[in-house]
Amino acid sequence: MIKPPKFKNKRSTKKIKSIAVLTSGGDAPGMNAAIRAVVRYGLHAKLHVYGILRGYRGLLEGQLVSLDRSSVANIVQRGGTILKTSRCESFFKRSVRREAAHLLVRKRIDALVVIGGDGSFAGAHALERETGFPVIGIPGTIDNDIPGTDDTVGFDTAVNTAIEAIDRIRDTANSHDRLFLVEVMGRNSGFIAAQVAIGGGAETIVIPQLGPQNGLSPSTVETICQNVNQGMRRGKLSSIIIVAEGPKPGLTLELAKKLEKRGYSPRACILGHIQRGGVPTGHDRFLASHLGAYSVEALLRGYSNCMVGVSENQVTFTPLKEVIRKQKPMSRETLQLAEILAT
Ligand code: F6P
Repeated sequence: MIKPPKFKNKRSTKKIKSIAVLTSGGDAPGMNAAIRAVVRYGLHAKLHVYGILRGYRGLLEGQLVSLDRSSVANIVQRGGTILKTSRCESFFKRSVRREAAHLLVRKRIDALVVIGGDGSFAGAHALERETGFPVIGIPGTIDNDIPGTDDTVGFDTAVNTAIEAIDRIRDTANSHDRLFLVEVMGRNSGFIAAQVAIGGGAETIVIPQLGPQNGLSPSTVETICQNVNQGMRRGKLSSIIIVAEGPKPGLTLELAKKLEKRGYSPRACILGHIQRGGVPTGHDRFLASHLGAYSVEALLRGYSNCMVGVSENQVTFTPLKEVIRKQKPMSRETLQLAEILAT
């Protein structure tokens, strides 16, 4: 058996005999590896393990399946989630969460593992606080925007997918001496953008952490023009600018229009959901397998209302209330490096 690090918060004394696992919010490559680890570690610990289909929505509709070793065979390498997922607005209502807890108790389930991001954890936290039902979170989102963990399941794969796309765009940008704007996912966080810009050798990055991005402020446009012109003076006739999507996709198209007004002929490319699919990297599979196993071991030891994560290669547990609705800081060094190497 693995030994999880100490979790200081109050422990639940409830004996766990049966657990359920669900995936919620945007899918992320590696979620299947996490599900497999929860199931196989749970069975190893002699637990009954159930899968809930389609996240919280499926929970409310009673979409429960019993899982055995073979239910999770041959999935470690598959993107997406075999349990399917959804974004369930109604779970924000207290009465709905109470109903969910009753349902779990009626099905004789003693604890719930939630694989997802911020919104999913907010639901799990509220469920535990209001009903006392034990929950544990595994961070699964390509955005890597969850505090309390260096990495989330799916981030590494998404970054690699975006970098591969940028390498291809670079070929055509070079051939035509063109300026390209490439929009990557990440909602209000720029973690994908920063890693992709550094790894893909972008000339400029536009991310929320570097200043106002919404509506693309004149200073953002000015910085892009300066960087492109500086490159041209050195004989660099093609450029790639990485843009974090912000609250809604399409920012890049607005930015392209602004640059056209300044006399440039940019091409815009929104990478979109291709970043969410595909075969998970070795890193994501390894991370997901560890977090899955530790989440079950933690529940057996009475830990609840926390997220299992990693910090400096060590497994950590953080109370969900310290994780939800918080901005994860980006290291200053990453930001500086991205800027220095870009220009
Ligand atoms: O949270 C993951 C994420 O992929 C974000 O990067 C993106 O903004 C959002 O989900 C897209 O969500 P949907 O698939 O619902 O359009």
